[in-house]
Amino acid sequence: MSEVRVRQAAPEDHDRIHPVLDDWWGRPIASVLQSLFLDHFFDTSFVADDEQGLAGFLVGFLSPARPEVAYVHFIGVRPDLRRSGLAADLYDRFFDLARRNGRTEVWAITAPVNERSIAFHRALGFDVTIQPNGPVRFRRPL
Ligand SMILES: CC(C)(COP(=O)(O)OP(=O)(O)OC[C@H]1O[C@@H](n2cnc3c(N)ncnc32)[C@H](O)[C@@H]1OP(=O)(O)O)[C@@H](O)C(=O)NCCC(=O)NCCS
Repeated sequence: MSEVRVRQAAPEDHDRIHPVLDDWWGRPIASVLQSLFLDHFFDTSFVADDEQGLAGFLVGFLSPARPEVAYVHFIGVRPDLRRSGLAADLYDRFFDLARRNGRTEVWAITAPVNERSIAFHRALGFDVTIQPNGPVRFRRPL
Protein backbone atom coordinates (compact mmCIF):
# COMPACT_ATOMS: atom_id res chain seq x y z
CA MET A 1 0.00 0.00 0.00
CA SER A 2 1.45 3.40 -0.97
CA GLU A 3 1.61 6.32 1.44
CA VAL A 4 -1.67 8.12 2.04
CA ARG A 5 -1.55 11.91 2.45
CA VAL A 6 -4.41 13.87 3.99
CA ARG A 7 -5.00 17.58 3.34
CA GLN A 8 -7.75 20.17 3.59
CA ALA A 9 -10.19 19.87 0.68
CA ALA A 10 -10.47 22.41 -2.15
CA PRO A 11 -13.59 23.35 -4.18
CA GLU A 12 -12.12 21.55 -7.23
CA ASP A 13 -12.14 18.25 -5.33
CA HIS A 14 -15.85 17.91 -6.05
CA ASP A 15 -14.96 16.93 -9.64
CA ARG A 16 -12.78 14.07 -8.31
CA ILE A 17 -15.09 12.89 -5.54
CA HIS A 18 -18.43 12.98 -7.39
CA PRO A 19 -17.56 10.35 -10.06
CA VAL A 20 -16.50 7.68 -7.52
CA LEU A 21 -19.50 7.92 -5.19
CA ASP A 22 -21.86 5.34 -6.73
CA ASP A 23 -19.00 2.84 -7.02
CA TRP A 24 -17.68 3.36 -3.48
CA TRP A 25 -21.19 3.23 -1.94
CA GLY A 26 -22.38 0.36 -4.16
CA ARG A 27 -25.64 2.16 -4.96
CA PRO A 28 -26.78 5.41 -6.62
CA ILE A 29 -25.84 8.13 -4.14
CA ALA A 30 -23.97 10.78 -6.14
CA SER A 31 -26.89 13.24 -6.26
CA VAL A 32 -26.50 13.80 -2.51
CA LEU A 33 -23.10 15.48 -2.88
CA GLN A 34 -23.80 18.67 -4.82
CA SER A 35 -20.88 20.98 -5.62
CA LEU A 36 -22.16 23.49 -3.05
CA PHE A 37 -20.72 21.32 -0.26
CA LEU A 38 -17.17 21.66 -1.57
CA ASP A 39 -17.70 25.26 -2.74
CA HIS A 40 -18.78 26.42 0.71
CA PHE A 41 -17.39 23.88 3.18
CA PHE A 42 -13.99 22.96 1.69
CA ASP A 43 -12.20 24.50 4.68
CA THR A 44 -13.86 22.02 7.07
CA SER A 45 -13.46 19.01 4.76
CA PHE A 46 -10.54 16.66 4.12
CA VAL A 47 -9.20 14.71 1.14
CA ALA A 48 -6.79 11.76 1.22
CA ASP A 49 -4.65 10.80 -1.78
CA ASP A 50 -2.18 8.05 -2.59
CA GLU A 51 -0.26 7.08 -5.74
CA GLN A 52 -3.44 5.63 -7.27
CA GLY A 53 -5.38 8.87 -6.80
CA LEU A 54 -8.27 9.62 -4.48
CA ALA A 55 -8.01 7.46 -1.35
CA GLY A 56 -10.79 8.93 0.80
CA PHE A 57 -12.59 12.07 1.86
CA LEU A 58 -14.68 13.61 4.61
CA VAL A 59 -17.08 16.44 3.79
CA GLY A 60 -18.26 18.24 6.90
CA PHE A 61 -19.15 21.66 8.23
CA LEU A 62 -19.69 23.68 11.38
CA SER A 63 -23.47 24.04 11.75
CA PRO A 64 -24.40 27.68 11.19
CA ALA A 65 -27.69 27.29 13.09
CA ARG A 66 -26.50 25.11 15.99
CA PRO A 67 -23.33 26.64 17.48
CA GLU A 68 -22.53 23.49 19.48
CA VAL A 69 -22.71 21.10 16.50
CA ALA A 70 -20.32 20.03 13.73
CA TYR A 71 -21.88 17.88 11.00
CA VAL A 72 -20.37 15.25 8.70
CA HIS A 73 -22.28 15.03 5.43
CA PHE A 74 -20.20 12.36 3.68
CA ILE A 75 -17.22 10.16 4.46
CA GLY A 76 -15.82 7.56 2.08
CA VAL A 77 -12.73 5.39 1.66
CA ARG A 78 -11.67 3.65 -1.55
CA PRO A 79 -12.69 -0.02 -1.29
CA ASP A 80 -9.13 -1.43 -1.44
CA LEU A 81 -8.08 0.77 1.52
CA ARG A 82 -10.90 -0.11 3.90
CA ARG A 83 -10.25 -1.35 7.44
CA SER A 84 -6.86 0.37 7.49
CA GLY A 85 -7.99 3.15 9.83
CA LEU A 86 -8.23 5.88 7.19
CA ALA A 87 -11.83 6.87 7.93
CA ALA A 88 -11.09 6.96 11.67
CA ASP A 89 -8.10 9.22 10.93
CA LEU A 90 -10.27 11.57 8.83
CA TYR A 91 -12.82 11.72 11.66
CA ASP A 92 -10.04 12.43 14.22
CA ARG A 93 -8.98 15.42 12.14
CA PHE A 94 -12.58 16.63 11.96
CA PHE A 95 -13.06 16.15 15.73
CA ASP A 96 -9.94 18.30 16.35
CA LEU A 97 -11.16 20.98 13.96
CA ALA A 98 -14.61 21.00 15.59
CA ARG A 99 -13.13 21.27 19.10
CA ARG A 100 -10.86 24.14 18.03
CA ASN A 101 -13.99 25.92 16.79
CA GLY A 102 -15.81 25.49 20.09
CA ARG A 103 -18.11 22.65 19.00
CA THR A 104 -19.13 20.06 21.58
CA GLU A 105 -21.00 17.49 19.43
CA VAL A 106 -20.63 15.83 16.05
CA TRP A 107 -23.72 14.70 14.16
CA ALA A 108 -24.13 12.58 11.02
CA ILE A 109 -26.78 10.42 9.39
CA THR A 110 -26.83 7.34 7.20
CA ALA A 111 -29.34 5.19 5.34
CA PRO A 112 -30.76 2.25 7.34
CA VAL A 113 -29.40 -0.18 4.71
CA ASN A 114 -25.84 1.01 5.36
CA GLU A 115 -24.86 -1.49 8.06
CA ARG A 116 -21.15 -0.87 7.45
CA SER A 117 -21.58 2.82 8.21
CA ILE A 118 -23.59 2.02 11.35
CA ALA A 119 -20.87 -0.37 12.59
CA PHE A 120 -18.16 2.18 11.80
CA HIS A 121 -19.90 5.05 13.63
CA ARG A 122 -20.62 2.82 16.63
CA ALA A 123 -16.92 1.86 16.75
CA LEU A 124 -16.04 5.57 16.84
CA GLY A 125 -18.25 6.12 19.87
CA PHE A 126 -21.35 7.62 18.25
CA ASP A 127 -24.77 7.11 19.81
CA VAL A 128 -27.00 5.50 17.18
CA THR A 129 -30.72 6.31 16.86
CA ILE A 130 -32.63 4.02 14.51
CA GLN A 131 -35.97 5.50 13.45
CA PRO A 132 -38.81 3.41 11.98
CA ASN A 133 -38.97 5.62 8.88
CA GLY A 134 -36.07 7.85 8.01
CA PRO A 135 -32.31 7.98 8.35
CA VAL A 136 -30.20 6.50 11.13
CA ARG A 137 -28.91 9.38 13.28
CA PHE A 138 -25.45 9.50 14.85
CA ARG A 139 -24.35 11.83 17.66
CA ARG A 140 -21.08 11.92 19.56
CA PRO A 141 -19.93 14.32 22.25
CA LEU A 142 -16.46 15.79 21.80
C1 LIG B 1 -17.74 3.35 6.36
C2 LIG B 1 -16.32 3.58 5.82
C3 LIG B 1 -16.11 5.08 5.60
C4 LIG B 1 -15.30 3.07 6.86
O1 LIG B 1 -14.00 3.36 6.38
P1 LIG B 1 -12.69 2.55 6.85
O2 LIG B 1 -11.49 3.37 6.49
O3 LIG B 1 -12.77 1.16 6.34
O4 LIG B 1 -12.88 2.53 8.44
P2 LIG B 1 -11.72 2.30 9.54
O5 LIG B 1 -10.67 1.39 8.97
O6 LIG B 1 -11.26 3.64 10.04
O7 LIG B 1 -12.55 1.53 10.66
C5 LIG B 1 -12.56 1.92 12.03
C6 LIG B 1 -13.41 0.92 12.80
O8 LIG B 1 -14.78 0.98 12.35
C7 LIG B 1 -15.34 -0.35 12.37
N1 LIG B 1 -15.68 -0.75 11.00
C8 LIG B 1 -15.28 -0.19 9.84
N2 LIG B 1 -15.79 -0.84 8.76
C9 LIG B 1 -16.52 -1.86 9.28
C10 LIG B 1 -17.28 -2.92 8.68
N3 LIG B 1 -17.38 -3.04 7.32
N4 LIG B 1 -17.92 -3.79 9.50
C11 LIG B 1 -17.82 -3.69 10.85
N5 LIG B 1 -17.10 -2.71 11.47
C12 LIG B 1 -16.47 -1.82 10.70
C13 LIG B 1 -14.27 -1.25 12.94
O9 LIG B 1 -14.42 -1.30 14.35
C14 LIG B 1 -13.00 -0.51 12.57
O10 LIG B 1 -11.89 -0.84 13.39
P3 LIG B 1 -11.05 -2.21 13.10
O11 LIG B 1 -10.80 -2.28 11.62
O12 LIG B 1 -9.81 -2.00 13.91
O13 LIG B 1 -11.94 -3.33 13.59
C15 LIG B 1 -16.06 2.79 4.50
O14 LIG B 1 -16.49 1.45 4.68
C16 LIG B 1 -16.77 3.36 3.28
O15 LIG B 1 -16.22 4.23 2.60
N6 LIG B 1 -18.01 2.86 2.98
C17 LIG B 1 -18.78 3.36 1.84
C18 LIG B 1 -19.23 4.77 2.06
C19 LIG B 1 -20.11 4.92 3.30
O16 LIG B 1 -20.99 4.14 3.56
N7 LIG B 1 -19.85 6.02 4.09
C20 LIG B 1 -20.53 6.27 5.36
C21 LIG B 1 -21.85 6.96 5.21
S1 LIG B 1 -21.70 8.71 4.79
